[in-house]
Amino acid sequence: MTIQVTFVCLGNICRSPMAEGVFRHLVEQAGLSDRIAVDSCGTGSWHIGERPHQGTRKVLRQHGIDYDGRARQLATADFARADFLIAMDTENLQILRRRASTAAEIGLLLDYADGIHERDVPDPYYSGGFDRVYQLVEAGCRGLLAHIRNKEGI
Ligand code: 4NP
Repeated sequence: MTIQVTFVCLGNICRSPMAEGVFRHLVEQAGLSDRIAVDSCGTGSWHIGERPHQGTRKVLRQHGIDYDGRARQLATADFARADFLIAMDTENLQILRRRASTAAEIGLLLDYADGIHERDVPDPYYSGGFDRVYQLVEAGCRGLLAHIRNKEGI
């Protein structure tokens, strides 16, 4: 059985596609691509069908990570399909927790990060700061992968 990891932010153009790209890269490096599937979505609908923000595309490219996804909105099916629903901030975490009952583990990305004291990945849509967002996302993704490997015994 494939383990499905779904990252969730507001617009699905800045933070969650970045996490999806970084996490998939880490999964590939760990040789676990046949065990762990990764995607992302947004709780909002404004950007459905769009490519990621150019700040996200640039920082992923700088780290040698390809990304070709397009924005989509969180759907009821995600709650049945995902094993891990990972929010990028507490606002979206609350939306996940309120919205549906699910067997998935619902978590906050930075709660899995070692040595990071923030809880929310800041929204770079208006204020920028994509390099800092990348650092936080990478730390969260490394910790999340370690957690999943431990929990799933892989
Ligand atoms: P994201 O960033 O949630 O990280 O994709 C945002 C993208 C768009 C908007 C807000 C945040 N927006 O208001 O359109």
